[in-house]
Amino acid sequence: MIINGILLKASLELFGEIMCGIVGCILKEKKAAPVLLECVRRLEYRGYDSVGIATSSSGINIKKDSGKIDEVQERLQLDDLPGKMGIAHVRWATHGLPTRENSHPHTDCYNKLALVHNGIIENYQELKDQLQEEGHHFSSDTDTEVIAHLVEKQMSKGMDLEDALRLVIHQIKGSYALAVIHVDYPNIIIGARKESPLILGVGDGDYFLASDVPAILEETNRIIYLDDEDLFVMKNDGIIVKDSQGRVKENEIDVISWSPEMAQKGGYDHFMIKEIHEQPEVVRNTLSELHEIKKTVENFSDFKRVCFVACGTSFHASMVGKYLFEELVGIPVDLALASEFEFSAGALTDDTLVIFITQSGETADTMKALEMAKEKAETLAIVNVMGSRATREADYVIYTRAGPEIGVAATKTYVSQLTCIYLLAACMVGDEKLLDELKKVPDYMKTALEKEELIKEISPHYKDVTDFFFIGRGFSYPTAMEGALKLKEITYIHGEGFAAGELKHGPLALISDDVPVVAVVPPGKSHDRTMGNVKEVKARGARVICLGSQNDVNLRSEAHYMIEFEDQISEVLSPLIYVVPLQLLAYYISVERDINPDQPKNLAKCVTVV
Ligand code: AGP
Ligand code: GLU
Repeated sequence: MIINGILLKASLELFGEIMCGIVGCILKEKKAAPVLLECVRRLEYRGYDSVGIATSSSGINIKKDSGKIDEVQERLQLDDLPGKMGIAHVRWATHGLPTRENSHPHTDCYNKLALVHNGIIENYQELKDQLQEEGHHFSSDTDTEVIAHLVEKQMSKGMDLEDALRLVIHQIKGSYALAVIHVDYPNIIIGARKESPLILGVGDGDYFLASDVPAILEETNRIIYLDDEDLFVMKNDGIIVKDSQGRVKENEIDVISWSPEMAQKGGYDHFMIKEIHEQPEVVRNTLSELHEIKKTVENFSDFKRVCFVACGTSFHASMVGKYLFEELVGIPVDLALASEFEFSAGALTDDTLVIFITQSGETADTMKALEMAKEKAETLAIVNVMGSRATREADYVIYTRAGPEIGVAATKTYVSQLTCIYLLAACMVGDEKLLDELKKVPDYMKTALEKEELIKEISPHYKDVTDFFFIGRGFSYPTAMEGALKLKEITYIHGEGFAAGELKHGPLALISDDVPVVAVVPPGKSHDRTMGNVKEVKARGARVICLGSQNDVNLRSEAHYMIEFEDQISEVLSPLIYVVPLQLLAYYISVERDINPDQPKNLAKCVTVV
């Protein structure tokens, strides 16, 4: 079957692509290590912090370290490992800092097996405690290593490798794409997947596995897609795929007619739109941090105030944090743009918890503020990049677990920051109801993503406007700000976000029929007042794009275009979901204007100068 773009995109969407990657191969004639090195290089675009290869040839040989692929290759000559079969990994650390010890492949106590894993094992701590009690020796802080020891344990009881792995994947909770080699099985690679991507490739007597198609597209375009919970056994004469019960399956071979560059983006035109689509999966990942966040909260000292510090999109997440903490936790919250912090830090008191929000963990303004705050108060960093500076400097760290974000405009990392803030607030006051509500967010987001067609249709009408207003109150004010920021950074159109009540104090003078207004009006406390502002701008000729509940007939009657959401989405949760169509609006206007949204002019992904 020739697979076309749409189909490939759909199949990649099914399992989302969040973390870094694994590859593996069994080759007929060539040495495996140089091929594995080339394959992991092709996963580089996903972002990574460590790299490692294991091959099988009269025993298991491993080379691995943290750092850039070229640097590690220069230091260790990864490609001179012997053997015609092996596995490799580029790591995006989720558990354990990016160090040599934590790099994959991981092994069991006796180095009989080597294993690479992409994903997160949620119940690793309890499994690790038990294995340690039973005498297993761990060499890393990763969640992954428990899998190696669990397989070892089952094999020591007499099971073969396949049965052992099948049993282990029933013991672990979370997401995984796995590949294992073992000294006693010198001709096979065995692996499995659940919620993390994994595909197999069939060459001319050569066999491959990889997290995504681009990694192996130079080697073969004949691809086998694995379903969730499939297990495969790869040998030098073929691949067998089985379901979770061990029944043999007939997965078809699809022939991909794609260039490596097209496939990198998983069928999407840009990383930004791919990352927008990853958001339901990302939120689900971040929600799995609940346990870690509970533990962090238990260690907090008794504080009376909170101060959020951040820049750009991360600052908008902080703004939501202010409304949430004041309403739910009932403590006063200050907000500081990181670049302004030094001018107000004098009044910081030691009864304040200072929360830094930063995707990169390296933003210079935020790091400078963190240094200053540390001298006076306890600090918590909410960070995406493990091992980044913020994670080393702050007293407490919470990871957003959004995976690498390649587009300069923050999208999936924003919703993951928000998710952390909601989890944090809910844990601080033991709000089980909110925790339950949060579980529904990925599904609400999926429905919000269905607005894509509508937004694609309306975007051409806005491609030539010069100014855009975004308005909202309370929880919707940060959403308005974030919508405006997305628009200006990737379309170069002037967009301003306003607290809707401020319009009459000045900005209303700028409203006319050529200034579109986006009004964020979820059902709740702010609804009626913002509705008043919608009427106010309409009376001055503005065409209003309204975001609100599907049941809000009054709002719909005022709207030039209405973007509807499920009625159950409360005002409190709305920032997580209502932002999605605004990201899409900015994206499609950018595309209409022939701009590359992934690389807006004058902007960098991480700002390392103050
Ligand atoms: C938004 O799309 C930008 N990427 C930018 O505003 C960003 O949020 C800001 O520079 C802060 O970066 P950080 O989260 O890595 O600290
Ligand atoms: N959770 C594993 C780790 O922290 C795998 C991360 C990845 O997918 O790269 O090492």
